[in-house]
Amino acid sequence: MGQDHSTVSAGTPPETLTERSLAAVAQHIKSGNVRRIVVMTGAGISTAAGIPDFRSPDTGLYANLARLNLPEPEAVFDLLFFKENPKPFYVLAKDLYPGKFFPTISHVFISMLAKKGLLHQLFTQNIDCLERAAGIPPELIVEAHGSFADQRCIDCKTPYPENLMREHVERAEVPLCIDKKCGGLVKPDIVFFHEALPPTFYDRIHTTSTADLAIVMGTSLMVHPFAGLPDQISRHAPRVLFNLDRVGSLGSRADDVLELGDCDTGVRKLADELGWREELESEWRKLVGDEEAERQMQGTGKRAAAVLEDEVSRLADDLDRGVRLQDFEETNDAS
Ligand code: OAD
Repeated sequence: MGQDHSTVSAGTPPETLTERSLAAVAQHIKSGNVRRIVVMTGAGISTAAGIPDFRSPDTGLYANLARLNLPEPEAVFDLLFFKENPKPFYVLAKDLYPGKFFPTISHVFISMLAKKGLLHQLFTQNIDCLERAAGIPPELIVEAHGSFADQRCIDCKTPYPENLMREHVERAEVPLCIDKKCGGLVKPDIVFFHEALPPTFYDRIHTTSTADLAIVMGTSLMVHPFAGLPDQISRHAPRVLFNLDRVGSLGSRADDVLELGDCDTGVRKLADELGWREELESEWRKLVGDEEAERQMQGTGKRAAAVLEDEVSRLADDLDRGVRLQDFEETNDAS
C-alpha cells in the first residue's frame, strides 16, 4: 500500500530486496542479512496514544494554535518567544506532560527490534518519553529534540527538581530558578527553535551510514537537521516508510518501501510477515493493559480523528484562557 506514490518507475528493479514490499523486507530481515536497523520517528507514532502531532491539517497542534494570538504557532517552542512569554508553553505542557500516556504498538515494535539485537539506533524527535516507557534501552535512543525528562534554568543552567516541575506544570505556572539570586526561567530540556540539538545526536549520526535497514515512522521530515537523516542511509540499505503520507526523499530509491497509512497498522503487517505478531501484541498488552490497548485500537484506522480534534481544541482553549489570564494579570500589575 503506497508503492504507487514512489517516484521510482515500476520497471526499475530493487537492488537489495527481491521486491518493494513488506514481505520482501521481512524476508530480508529473516535471512540474517540485517543486523543494524536504524529507526527514525516523529509525532505520528504517538497520536494513537492521544498526543496530537504538529502538522496534520485538522488535528495537529499547529493548525489549532493558529487561531491564538501568537506570532506563529511554532512560537510556543521558540526560545526567543519563550524568554518574552513562557506562559503559552506552560499551558501546553500541562496537557503534554509525560505520565498519562502509554506506548503504542509502534513503540513496542521498536523495543522488540532491540530485544532481538537488531536495533542499531533509534532517533526520535518526540519529547513524550514513550520510547523509554516502551523499554527501549536508553543507550539506543537519541532524543534529538530533547524531552520532558529533565529541566534547568535557561540562564545559569542549574537543574530544577522534578517534583517542583510537576507541581508547576500541573498548575500551568512558570517555574523560576531555585537559585534566588538568578531567578531565571526554567525550561524542560526540550530543544526549542533557536537551540542546538544535543551532542548525542551528532555523536550517533554515524550509525545512519552503517545501517543495513532503515525504518522511518510518523514524521513529516520538515525539521532539520533531523530531516536529513534518511538521506545518510547507504543506497544499498532498504528504507521503509510507515506514514500517512510520503515524506522527504522516501520513495525515490530502488529499495524504498512505502507503507502509507496508520503506522500501527503498518507495523502489525510487518510483524505478521516476520511471524512476530503474537509476541508483539502480547508484549504491548502486558505493558499498557487491555483497557488502554482497546482504547488505542478503537482509534486505529480512523486515527481517533474526532477524539484528537476535541482534545486539541480543548488544549487550544486552555492556552487561549492562559494567555488572556496573563494579559489580565499584567495589565493589573501595571495599573
Ligand atoms: P509532524 O506533525 O510534523 O509530522 C507528523 C507526521 O506523521 C505527518 O506526516 C503525519 O501525516 C504523520 N502521522 C500522523 N499520525 C500518524 C499515524 N497514526 N500513523 C502514521 N503517520 C502518522 O511531526 P514531526 O515530524 O515529529 O519540534 O515534527 C518534527 C518537529 O516539529 C517536532 O519534533 C517539533 C515540531 O516543531 C520541536 O518542538 C522542536
